[in-house]
Amino acid sequence: MQILKKMSGLMENTTAYRLWQAPFADAKIAPILHHNDFSKIQRVLDVGCGPGTNCRYFEKADYTGFDINPRYIDYACRKYRRNFVVQDVCTFEAPMEQRFDFVLLNSLLHHLTDPEAHRVLGRLRHLVSPGGYVHIVELVLPEYRGIPRWLAVNDRGNFPRSLTAWKELFSTYFHTAIFEPYPIKLLGVGLWNLVYFKGEPKV
Ligand SMILES: C[S@@+](CC[C@H](N)C(=O)[O-])C[C@H]1O[C@@H](n2cnc3c(N)ncnc32)[C@H](O)[C@@H]1O
Repeated sequence: MQILKKMSGLMENTTAYRLWQAPFADAKIAPILHHNDFSKIQRVLDVGCGPGTNCRYFEKADYTGFDINPRYIDYACRKYRRNFVVQDVCTFEAPMEQRFDFVLLNSLLHHLTDPEAHRVLGRLRHLVSPGGYVHIVELVLPEYRGIPRWLAVNDRGNFPRSLTAWKELFSTYFHTAIFEPYPIKLLGVGLWNLVYFKGEPKV
């Protein structure tokens, strides 16, 4: 258990995070790629963008990514030359005129407490342009023992939630278009249980 917690700290290092996550990055975003026409996306806000993991999917769009970790953002700026900013989502105040048709939160919310997650979603819904959506990928805490539950409990994000809790949180602020649980596997073995949520803001 100690080793996993130490590894969690190591994930703050850009290279370590990329090596650990790179093999799974495509699988994590696969449902979003499957359900959406990326050629139509115009403005993207990638919240908790990490070291720019997902920006390559949005080459034709006007893309902004932000993350609390300056080392990730430094790496992302040098590698991808897109618009990356160091920012804590909990204190994020986007200018009122800013709107995005694709607001992405890929594996961010399980780093936030319940009050933080509520505040963030409540605020982000106002940044979605008419006809746009929020797209959320999140870490599910399975009910039963096994590798996915163990990995979720020992993730560096301290707030993995049950499917029911995620559904309740998302639907407080968004109308559900898609709520799709899916596993991430390695050699046929389930590692993480994730959920993809696509929603339109409730106003
Ligand atoms: C599991 S990583 C996901 C990164 C990226 N979205 C990806 O798909 O690889 C979670 C990210 O959330 C960021 N993060 C955690 N708390 C944050 C906060 N309060 N504000 C902004 N970013 C935060 C972390 O620095 C980390 O990059």
